[in-house]
Formats: sequence, C-alpha cells, structure tokens
Amino acid sequence: MGNKINVAIVGYGNVGKGVLSALKQNADITASAIFSRSPERVKKEGLSLPVYSIDAIEKLKGIDVAILCGGSKDDLPAQGPQFAALINTVDSFDNHSKIPEYFAQMDSVAKKSSKVAVISAGWDPGTFSLERVMGTVVIPNAKMYGFYGLSPKGGLSMGHSDALRTINGVKDARQYTHAIGEAIEKIRNGENPTFTARDMHWRECFVVLEEGADKEKVTQEIVSMPGYFEPYRTVVNFVTEEELKAQYAGFPHDGLVIGAGVLGGGEKALVEYRNTWESNPVATGHILVAHARAAYRLAEERKTGAFTILDIPPAYLTNKSREELLRSFV
Ligand SMILES: NC(=O)c1ccc[n+]([C@@H]2O[C@H](COP(=O)([O-])OP(=O)(O)OC[C@H]3O[C@@H](n4cnc5c(N)ncnc54)[C@H](OP(=O)(O)O)[C@@H]3O)[C@@H](O)[C@H]2O)c1
Repeated sequence: MGNKINVAIVGYGNVGKGVLSALKQNADITASAIFSRSPERVKKEGLSLPVYSIDAIEKLKGIDVAILCGGSKDDLPAQGPQFAALINTVDSFDNHSKIPEYFAQMDSVAKKSSKVAVISAGWDPGTFSLERVMGTVVIPNAKMYGFYGLSPKGGLSMGHSDALRTINGVKDARQYTHAIGEAIEKIRNGENPTFTARDMHWRECFVVLEEGADKEKVTQEIVSMPGYFEPYRTVVNFVTEEELKAQYAGFPHDGLVIGAGVLGGGEKALVEYRNTWESNPVATGHILVAHARAAYRLAEERKTGAFTILDIPPAYLTNKSREELLRSFV
C-alpha cells in the first residue's frame, strides 16, 4: 500500500460502488475494506476487498478515512456521528434543510474525537454549493438559479422515484426531472425573473402498476402529492416492468447553476456551471474520493471538526502537484 491514503467504504449501494469505480482513477488512494449492515449480500459481489459487519469497529485500525455511503434520510444521521467518534469521515449528506443541524452534530462529535468530518460532499450539495457561493462572490447581488435534467431524457430523481413507489398500486417507478428551457433563456437574456417551482421544472413519471390497480386513481394520487408533484406540471406514463428496465436503465443526471445580476457600474453579468453525469452515483463517488484526500490532509494538519466543500482549499482536493497547479491550472 506504500504511502497511499487508506479508505474504507461504509455502506455498499450505488454510491458505495461509485467510490470503488472512482478509485481506479485516483492512484494515491486505496480502499482496504467495506463495512456493511448486510455483509453477506456484499460478499456475494465477489470483490477482492474484505467485507466486514458495520459493527466490526476494530477493523477500522490502520484506515485513514471512512467514506460513508449510506442514505441521507435514515442512515447518515445515525452512522455519521457513530463513525466520526472513531475515524475521519466523508459523506454526501443531501437533505438540504437539515444540513445546519447535521453539521453541528458532526462538528461536535469530531471535535471531541479530534477527527475530521467532511459532510455533504457530492454535487448538490457539494460542487454546486461552491459554484453558488462563487457566483455571489463575483456578483454580490446575483440571483442564483439551479436547473436539473437538461438533457432530452431528463435527470433521474431517486427521491421522487422512491415517493412514487410508496403509492398503493405502484409496483415500480422512475421519475425524470426536466428543466424548462424557456426559463433558462430568460435568465441568459438578463431578465433575472422570480420563478415559481413550476416555471423551472416539469416532472415525468414512468410507472409499473400492480395487477388490477386503477390507472386514474394512481395518476390522481401522483399529481396531487404535496411537495413532490403537486407544485409541478407532471406527466404520468404507464409502462411494463420490461419497458422500465430496458428503456430507463442507469442513473443519468445533470444540472446547471446560473448566477445573474449586475456589476457595480450597472453592467449585466452572468456565471454558469454545468455537469452531466451518465451515472449520478459514480460521479458522487468521484467527488467523495477527492474529499477523502482533503480530509486526510486536514487531519495531517491536526484540524478537527466538521467541514464542507466551502471550508476546503481546492488544492487539498486534487492529487496534482503544486508545480502542475501553478503551471497549468491557475
Ligand atoms: N450530495 C449529492 O450530490 C448526492 C448525490 C447522489 C447521492 N447522494 C446521497 O447518497 C445516498 C446513497 O445513495 P445510493 O444510491 O447509494 O443509495 P442506496 O443504493 O439505496 O444505498 C444506501 C444503503 O442501502 C444499503 N443497500 C444498498 N443496496 C442494498 C440492497 N440491495 N439490499 C439491502 N441494503 C442495500 C447499503 O447499506 P449497507 O451496505 O450497510 O446495507 C447502502 O449504503 C443517497 O441517500 C443520497 O442522499 C448525494
């Protein structure tokens, strides 16, 4: 292993797999174990890494950073503090309204254990958070906008797909978010409008029904679901299980952050940042791995407590040398 940064993957789902993929392109970091609540399931994947029960904390010895890949809703609120009490951690916690609370909790635990806990390190929150701040750094009066699902197929929303699956009569479902192009054009034209949620996105659902379920009833329940679908124009398509699997495989997603405002002399100004992922969880895995490097470097400097991407110098995220950064990236 030499001088490589040694990480553990905690939780082996889509993002956990994404972290393993990302390590193929990050030669300075290696994974030495997977921790899971269902180690027997993970062992069946035939990986070359040891797989331990999540409770086998003695196996964390020698590991520099635990990359927490559990779900934001129920897993990370418990697993985050548990692991931050023992080891440096990185996670992609994405429950936006609860980030201040989660940060405070992780900060308190990690300060007590003298560890580093990097939270919300994905793309949104994550790299998009940085771009939102940079927009308002350059244009202090900028309005910041976020659009998701710019490609014709749209972006797969796991949260909305999960919400569809909670409806009686729904066997399986996927939800694609679509950005409304005219709204983006209005911003690019310098109109800086105030939008409602409905002005910016529409939602497309592909639903497999349970046998005998009533299409009309399911449709009504979907389009009237508060928060998830009611604020949007929502189109519901009924498909077979095979069609859902064949046509809508993978986890594609993309997004755009736009900041628009005027400069000190009244001149119009616009900044944009876009990412397009054929696989959202693999991209998230790549971002987590970069933050594991930063967590290791912060810990080497004896920093402790919680950090977000906003608190981390970009040079800590990359494995490029200072010389290369100065020569080609500054
Ligand atoms: N910030 C961002 O931009 C961003 C982007 C994407 C995702 N995320 C976050 O990443 C989180 C994880 O996403 P994910 O797609 O990896 O979720 P997921 O596939 O549902 O995995 C979540 C956890 O469920 C368990 N699990 C996975 N597959 C299982 C199976 N077949 N049977 C039983 N348990 C299974 C795993 O834990 P065990 O191994 O312990 O069982 C895994 O860690 C999401 O909740 C989201 O909040 C953030």
